[in-house]
Amino acid sequence: MLKNLVISVNKSPVSKIDSVNFDALSFGSVFSDHMFVCDYKDGQWKDPEIIPYQPITLEPSARVFHYGQAIFEGMKAFKDEQNQLFLFRPEDNFKRFNRSAKRLAMPEVPQEIFMEGLDHLVRLEEKWVKCGIGRSLYLRPFMIATDAAISAAPSKNYKFLIIASPAGVYYSSEVRVLIAEKYSRAADGGIGFTKAAGNYAAQFYPTSLAHQKGYQQVIWTDSNSHEYVEEAGTMNVFFRIGDTLLTAPTSDHILDGITRKSVLQLAEDLGIPTEVRRISVKEIKDAARSGELKEIFGSGTAAVINPICGFEHAQEYFELKMSDNSYATILKNRLTAIQHNCADDPHQWRHLVP
Ligand code: COI
Repeated sequence: MLKNLVISVNKSPVSKIDSVNFDALSFGSVFSDHMFVCDYKDGQWKDPEIIPYQPITLEPSARVFHYGQAIFEGMKAFKDEQNQLFLFRPEDNFKRFNRSAKRLAMPEVPQEIFMEGLDHLVRLEEKWVKCGIGRSLYLRPFMIATDAAISAAPSKNYKFLIIASPAGVYYSSEVRVLIAEKYSRAADGGIGFTKAAGNYAAQFYPTSLAHQKGYQQVIWTDSNSHEYVEEAGTMNVFFRIGDTLLTAPTSDHILDGITRKSVLQLAEDLGIPTEVRRISVKEIKDAARSGELKEIFGSGTAAVINPICGFEHAQEYFELKMSDNSYATILKNRLTAIQHNCADDPHQWRHLVP
């Protein structure tokens, strides 16, 4: 099998990098010169390689197209002033990827393939990682079912790939959200906790309805009663009521966000009181009415920590006052300083890319 992993590298003869305007990036629309690929065949992961970024060829009958057997991760590489390259908590992405794989009846990816694939790709693409807070190379490991067969059963063959995309901000304008009353993102016993591709596709239609009303995102509520807030799909969600920072507990409905748990840890380090518990929509609306709701923000790899300026629920709209000294600002500054090696890393979250 893959003892002493050897990754073959076939370098692209040309680079696209000079055609990219790194000051005007639209999230996830430009890809670096190379990608990592490894196939699962006959019960084994085989022949990991880095090749020029290019289209992949699959049979139209490939199971991924028919049953959505596909999972992914989102993570970022950062560069410091000394040109050292870092990943942020990559082992957490690795573990979550395999939790998703297990739930979608896909084979787990060995740690050496996941980690060394990332390290090699990031090292090769180092020019694509720009220095400076707010800049990163977004990494997208993903796995798809490749069997050419359309009986409704898990595939026997898979492809694991990592692609890379230079990133700036995810939301370029203010974010306002609609709190869900009808549609649901996840249900009891379902796959809400995974990064299954279909979890995201299922949100597109209700989110497009929210867009028509001028909202960028939906805050999902529990599918049984629609009374308790869960997450925003691209982000976990935090509420500041008085001086306490609240977020919903992770469950089989809610993604175990790596930025979410970093925010909770940083808040604790900074002495910010936190509560991880069910939060009802009523509590948020009551707090908004009484002026106790000081902030809402989302957290995620792509979005980092993004303030939410207002929300609508049951035809009632609430606007929040933005302040410079918000928890969102304090926590984002602390998080990004750690990610970019501008601050101590007391929890050993940075992974130095060799
Ligand atoms: C991420 O933050 O990395 C995600 O996977 C969310 C994605 C929809 C951009």
